[in-house]
Amino acid sequence: MGAKQSFPRVQIPSGRTFVVTGANRGIGYEVAKWIAMMGGTVIMACRSEDDTMKAMRQMDKEYKEEKEKGTPGLVDVAELSLVFMKLDMSSFQSTKEFVQAYKESGRPLHVLICNAGISKAKPEQTNDGYEYMLQVNYLSHFLMISQLLPMMKGNESESRIILVSSDAHKLCGYSLEGINYKGDPSQFGFLDYYGRSKLYQIMQMHCLHRRLRNSNISVTSAHPGTVETNIGAEFKDMAAYQIFLKLNRLVGLMRTPLHGATTIINSAVNPELKSMSGVYFKDCQPASTTSVSRDEIKQEELWNKTLEFLKEHLTEEEIYCLEGADP
Ligand SMILES: NC(=O)c1ccc[n+]([C@@H]2O[C@H](COP(=O)([O-])OP(=O)(O)OC[C@H]3O[C@@H](n4cnc5c(N)ncnc54)[C@H](OP(=O)(O)O)[C@@H]3O)[C@@H](O)[C@H]2O)c1
Repeated sequence: MGAKQSFPRVQIPSGRTFVVTGANRGIGYEVAKWIAMMGGTVIMACRSEDDTMKAMRQMDKEYKEEKEKGTPGLVDVAELSLVFMKLDMSSFQSTKEFVQAYKESGRPLHVLICNAGISKAKPEQTNDGYEYMLQVNYLSHFLMISQLLPMMKGNESESRIILVSSDAHKLCGYSLEGINYKGDPSQFGFLDYYGRSKLYQIMQMHCLHRRLRNSNISVTSAHPGTVETNIGAEFKDMAAYQIFLKLNRLVGLMRTPLHGATTIINSAVNPELKSMSGVYFKDCQPASTTSVSRDEIKQEELWNKTLEFLKEHLTEEEIYCLEGADP
């Protein structure tokens, strides 16, 4: 169960700013809460304002309880530094509006945690014409990173990008031809396509790492473990999924959201990891990934295909910056 798994309780200066996508529940909730409880300013990039405001109130309540318990390493403030910003990752327009609003806010950005994710039982297309998991889990995060990178490159302090991936990348196929599923719905392999979206994040990490090698930015990816959250909501009526959950609970493999968040929080705040880049973490340790994910030729093919998909949303300067040039 990862005995070594923990993150250091560090004092984060309040000006250090973290964006967490999908921070209103599940793993992202714990990531955002603990970073804020250690002093960071957290931008909760989420699609529902109501749900996020509720989550913020709950975080403040839990923070007060932790302080009363005497939990060490917490900042001493009246309220956590949490900010809601609207983001729907199933829409490129919403993703671009988020970036625009972020730039206009004048806030710095030091750590970008790409956590929002979804798993779909049936093939669905977004209004932009992409298979849902491909866009939410991978393409929109890619777009967001591309547009925020010039800001992050301007930081004086070290900056980090963390892609929340999954060991599910070990269970999928790989073919660029079928990247955007448009086939027969009855043939849709939902676990395969979920896994693929997570595989692409690891491959993107390697491409970015090569391009950012001499910069102030590190890029890592993380597997949180098997965590009891809402991610499997669409499968809850499937007998096989219920058996999977029961077996995992029985053998103690099912994690709480905080346990799942630990590797991500560690990647975001651990001072010892600031120059670790191009690494996939699991249980707070570097871990292995599949040979496909490590194949540099395939990584670059995917990178080029992704830029084809996103080219109408990116400026020449953003692509230059993404390819390694200074902004
Ligand atoms: N749970 C696991 O066992 C497990 C294992 C490996 C990896 N992961 C990864 O961990 C990450 C977090 O998942 P979780 O388990 O915490 O799942 P979760 O409880 O279902 O939370 C998912 C989060 O993503 C947000 N999200 C979904 N679609 C979105 C969209 N279109 N735009 C913006 N935000 C959106 C959700 O917001 P709403 O509340 O608005 O839906 C929610 O905040 C995901 O990337 C997942 O792939 C999870």
